Amino acid sequence: MTSPSSPAIELRGVRKAFRTPSGASHTAVHDLDLTIQQGEFVAVVGPTGCGKSTTLTLVSGLEEPTDGEVMLSGSPVRGIDERVGFVFQQDATFPWRTVLSNVMAGPRFRGVPKAEAKERAREWLGRVGLSAFEDRYPHQLSGGQRKRVALASTFVNDPSILLMDEPFSALDVQTRALMSDELMELWAGTGASVVFVTHDLEESIALADKVVVMTAGPATVKEVFTIDLPRPRRVESIRLEPRFVEIYREIWSSLGEEVRITRERGAQNVA
Ligand SMILES: Nc1ncnc2c1ncn2[C@@H]1O[C@H](COP(=O)(O)OP(=O)(O)O)[C@@H](O)[C@H]1O
Ligand SMILES: [Mg+2]
Repeated sequence: MTSPSSPAIELRGVRKAFRTPSGASHTAVHDLDLTIQQGEFVAVVGPTGCGKSTTLTLVSGLEEPTDGEVMLSGSPVRGIDERVGFVFQQDATFPWRTVLSNVMAGPRFRGVPKAEAKERAREWLGRVGLSAFEDRYPHQLSGGQRKRVALASTFVNDPSILLMDEPFSALDVQTRALMSDELMELWAGTGASVVFVTHDLEESIALADKVVVMTAGPATVKEVFTIDLPRPRRVESIRLEPRFVEIYREIWSSLGEEVRITRERGAQNVA
């Protein structure tokens, strides 16, 4: 049953196993319990290959859990939900469409009349600073600009849940910090719940209300840390603050161990 008091996202006893090409079963995540409230910004960190992306695909409805339940606002996830927006590492733009047409695509797909879709697209392009670029094609933009198109294309649909999988990983360091600041500005006031997957602990602390540390694969939740840094935040300055450094040390003592386990396994596989 959907109720306004239900958490935005809830995973209960979730396990996901994939079939390998040899026909064996490979557990990617197990015993996952996670609750994300409406309006919360949650970052998920964990070693490479532990099961972070798998967790997101389960929330998105792209994959179904093998065991357990994934709920959105109290109802089990059944396929892809219109309330959910995604931003991935790769640009999800249509190369043959202009910037404006890209941002209009989501609302048009959802049945919004053309004039209104255009108006909403222009409003979001304004917010990401791309008003002067609406007639360009994605290949005529920088990496940061294409990422802004992706953000505008997502926010224009007014998602109540925003899933982001290492969205800024392919950008250079300065652009990444800038995009993080812009993301926080765009998100503020939308009331959307965000699940932001990253392998970058600094990025996760700068952005999130809570940081979820996953174990080495197959992942489960190891620890959840509440980030008590005040908002608004700016990435470049907040990471120098003593409280930030303290939080970083605390979380790294948990995450670092999982990273080490993962590396040692890798070394064994190579040997
Ligand atoms: N569609 C799939 N089929 C088979 N195995 C998969 C599939 N997706 C992910 N895996 C495996 O599940 C594990 C977790 O992967 P993933 O969730 O992508 O990790 P992360 O995002 O943390 O780097 C890995 O061992 C990966 O190879
Ligand atoms: Mg991943």
